[in-house]
Amino acid sequence: MSEQVLKIRYRCLHPSCVVYCKEGELFLAESLFARLSSFYEDEMVFRSPKDACRMGFSQPFEVLDIAEVKDENPVEEQTQLKDSFGSAADPISVLIAEHKKVLEKVEKVEEHLVKRDIDGLWVSTADLDNILHLHGGIKEEEVLFPALKGLVPFGEGLVACINEDHREIVSLIYAFREALKDGNINDKIIGSSLVALRSHIRKEDNEFFKFVEKYINDEMKEVLMVKMERAEKVFVPKEPGDRKYNEKQAAERAKFHEKTLEAKEIALDTCCH
Ligand SMILES: [Fe+2]
Ligand SMILES: [Fe+2]
Repeated sequence: MSEQVLKIRYRCLHPSCVVYCKEGELFLAESLFARLSSFYEDEMVFRSPKDACRMGFSQPFEVLDIAEVKDENPVEEQTQLKDSFGSAADPISVLIAEHKKVLEKVEKVEEHLVKRDIDGLWVSTADLDNILHLHGGIKEEEVLFPALKGLVPFGEGLVACINEDHREIVSLIYAFREALKDGNINDKIIGSSLVALRSHIRKEDNEFFKFVEKYINDEMKEVLMVKMERAEKVFVPKEPGDRKYNEKQAAERAKFHEKTLEAKEIALDTCCH
């Protein structure tokens, strides 16, 4: 006789799970649900089965609603969700999924640009800067890239190129925010930064990550996931702060803007775009 199947409406309890799988519906065999529930004392909380969390983690899910599925309902496909919470989640998929979050921040900046909302831009570019710091600066540069050393052919050159993209994008956002302090919305600088960021994400999704993922075994995946989760937990986003005007600093910034644009043109000529 086939096992009883449960239809479960759930909410992910991870604090930063806001976009991908915050709430949803799962079909699980009763015995699997019992096992997943045994990870938590609270009987309304269970551990997410493999692939339920699109970020690749095993998250605590809260039961919002649970019902037995009657035999006449064809649920064979859904019950295929495997009890494989022991297998390593994939850090590369996590980074690729996170690109969607980055692009949402980019869209917010673009909305403010259209509205010429300088105070909105002050906040949305700070938000973008924060996610780039956590995603590119910490998870990629401090966690993933050191693990690729000596493992991936041409790894050092590829990583250097990716790092150069990061520097370029962040320095342009910085320059744009400095101009905001003077009351200027510099479309050229932010435009260059967002174009570079979109192309960087495409490069990672379609080329760089595809290439390096072949070299990452299950053991490494586990270590990388632990480090990335820890980085996420301890990361403290920077507040946008005050947007103040200072005449002397404004003159210095004007020079800096010019230099940044020159540097960007040189970088575009020399890096592997
Ligand atoms: Fe990335
Ligand atoms: Fe990156």
